[in-house]
Amino acid sequence: MSEHIGAKPGTWEGESRLLFLAPMAGVSDLPFRLLAKECGADVTITEFTNSTALSREAAMSWRKMESHEKEVPFIPQIFGGDAGDMATAAEMLAASADIIDLNFGCPAPKVTKICAGAALMGEPKNLVSMVDGIIQRVDIPVTAKMRLGTGQGANNAFEICKELEDIGTSRLCVHGRTLRQRYSGEADWNEIKRIVEAVEVPVIANGDVVNAKSAKLCLETTHAAGLMIGRGAIGRPSVFGDIKVGLGWMKEEDLPWIQDLGDEWYERSAIGQAFATRKWCWDKYIDYSHQSVGLQPRWMQRHAVAFTKGLPGAKKIRNLMHGAPTPEAFADAISTYLAANE
Ligand SMILES: Cc1cc2nc3c(=O)[nH]c(=O)nc-3n(C[C@H](O)[C@H](O)[C@H](O)COP(=O)(O)O)c2cc1C
Repeated sequence: MSEHIGAKPGTWEGESRLLFLAPMAGVSDLPFRLLAKECGADVTITEFTNSTALSREAAMSWRKMESHEKEVPFIPQIFGGDAGDMATAAEMLAASADIIDLNFGCPAPKVTKICAGAALMGEPKNLVSMVDGIIQRVDIPVTAKMRLGTGQGANNAFEICKELEDIGTSRLCVHGRTLRQRYSGEADWNEIKRIVEAVEVPVIANGDVVNAKSAKLCLETTHAAGLMIGRGAIGRPSVFGDIKVGLGWMKEEDLPWIQDLGDEWYERSAIGQAFATRKWCWDKYIDYSHQSVGLQPRWMQRHAVAFTKGLPGAKKIRNLMHGAPTPEAFADAISTYLAANE
């Protein structure tokens, strides 16, 4: 068993379990992953990257695979419809990665039309043999993330997970929706529970966990080894610390933004605290950008919109973006804007 995977835990009785930042294309860039870790995420995963492009050494795709000494474990996620390219990309990544994660959950047509992502769940034999080929080629743990099924016919994540366990997949993550559902309806945590009970490898539950209340309910239902949080962390990476405090896994005063703000924190109203947290997160995102890949205007724009969502005058953010002469000026403008809303 790898030090980065751990054993399957038993029934959940309130103790801490791993919190994952979900891989999210256009969101889970390196500075955001580092920020999420500082906010309390235990594990981060890169956004999915095309294995064919990686195997052909495409520079743009390799840029997405950059990590930082603080990102331990480093888990790149790959997708693809060609088993050979998947194994080649995994082998190339194994030199720097701690774990390789495979995507069988993406519903985007540009992915499913090459029979990759969630579409592979409609071809379970190919999916399992693809994973087998990868496990044979690398000597680090291989994990897989999937949906409940394609939504055509009966769900098959249960059967696929059992087979993946048999061939040596180290950990499984299940998003409780089908490909057909995309993001509609509610995640079915009871289906995830069945899988948790049926396999001996750790299973991570994913779908609709957004705060301490839903985290508690999901763990009570699934007894999963951990929870993966996606949309709930967009613009709000502090959700990881909030969940840990809400479930009694850490003390509120140990949250890094409270540590940094000191007594000033407790003098604020609840809304003032929420805005101060967003400003702290934004400033850290910028710090981590400087420490890793440098300021990336497109990434900053996306996060700026998310960090300011719902705030008064947030629509002006786009003007701020276009009016700023440099990325540094843009970073400062957002920080000042958030401070004004504290
Ligand atoms: C903008 C966005 C991008 C995503 N990109 C990926 C990805 O690259 N790889 C992946 O496995 N899942 C991806 N997902 C799915 C999430 O990882 C997660 O499974 C899904 O959002 C359900 O979790 P949630 O309810 O916590 O958001 C993405 C989701 C969103 C919203």
